[in-house]
Amino acid sequence: MKILSIETSCDETALALVEASGGMKNPSFTVLKNIVSSQIALHAPFGGVVPNIAKREHLKNLPLIFNALYPKLHSLSPDVVAVTVGPGLEPALWTGVNFAKEIHKNYFPKAKLVGVNHMEGHLYSFLLMQKAQFPSFAKASEGKQITNSKMYPAIGLVVSGGHTILLLLKSLTTWKKLGETRDDAVGEAFDKVARMLGLPYPGGPEIQKAAALGNPTSVNFPRPMMKDKNYDFSFSGLKTSVLYYIRDHRGQSRNKNFIEDIAASFQAAAVETLVYKTARAVKECKAKSIILAGGVAANQALREALTAESKKLGVNFFAPPMAYNTDNAAMIAAAAYIQTLKKKNRRITAQANLSL
Ligand code: KG4
Ligand code: ZN
Repeated sequence: MKILSIETSCDETALALVEASGGMKNPSFTVLKNIVSSQIALHAPFGGVVPNIAKREHLKNLPLIFNALYPKLHSLSPDVVAVTVGPGLEPALWTGVNFAKEIHKNYFPKAKLVGVNHMEGHLYSFLLMQKAQFPSFAKASEGKQITNSKMYPAIGLVVSGGHTILLLLKSLTTWKKLGETRDDAVGEAFDKVARMLGLPYPGGPEIQKAAALGNPTSVNFPRPMMKDKNYDFSFSGLKTSVLYYIRDHRGQSRNKNFIEDIAASFQAAAVETLVYKTARAVKECKAKSIILAGGVAANQALREALTAESKKLGVNFFAPPMAYNTDNAAMIAAAAYIQTLKKKNRRITAQANLSL
């Protein structure tokens, strides 16, 4: 099945063309084209995404990217046109939804038009790994096919700029929310701490870069709610502690070593909190794997800590290939494929608050 997918929920205008096969038992994807036009440079001076600028840029970029792709699309003629319908910034979502409707009507009227949940896109982005990259199961020999009985139940950790969610997946399509953030999403905390340190937007990659040169034990920032019995998170308190620490050390706040140590110590606190609760969920739910997803999945310290933790727990760890952590349209195609197999229909209209 060939899927043309469109993503405009935030500040990336993205289109992809993906070939999907294998059905629910063995979903496999070949990404034929994956174009992401980032608006980061335009939003950076504002320290965050400005919805109307995002809308204007999507309107400008969508036809440009589509026209660049069109010769290939024309010869391949997609079976599905998929578009993110939410969650996200409403004006930004509408640009993708309207564009999808228009190209469906004008170019691919025989294709099925599918509305996709952006967070399901993130969740399924690990499926874009090549099968050869899949880890072998603790007790299975190297390279063995991953069967559902060896993969589920799984714990899903979905961490982005707007969400921090822990899921218990009984299968690829059935899950229960174990917990989520009660205030800031972890990506948002990375962005805000970066801003306090005078680092540019988006903060996650900048904090990672600075942290690599700093000492993660230099400041013992709090790990809010880490030891609580529930599976919820809170990152607002951690962020405020960083703010107070910077205020109390105002004289050093532009010192390179100081910035690196704060970045490393903040990142260590955020990663430890995420890994601790994920590990507890694995043990309590007797899970067989951990699935990481969302923009913050790009964080090397988090990936390394979860890799080490899954080895310790004897479970498998799945994370998206590096190109598919932050917003992209290939992941929207992956989710559209699973949704099409499930015969699930979603309204083709912007739904800013759609949940998982
Ligand atoms: O999934 P995403 O691209 O957009 C949303 O759906 O929110 O996630 C963006 C978030 C931003 O907060 C960004 O700072 C964070 O992901 N991020 C990172 C890294 N790369 C992106 N956070 C920590 N470390 C990174 N390397
Ligand atoms: Zn996202």
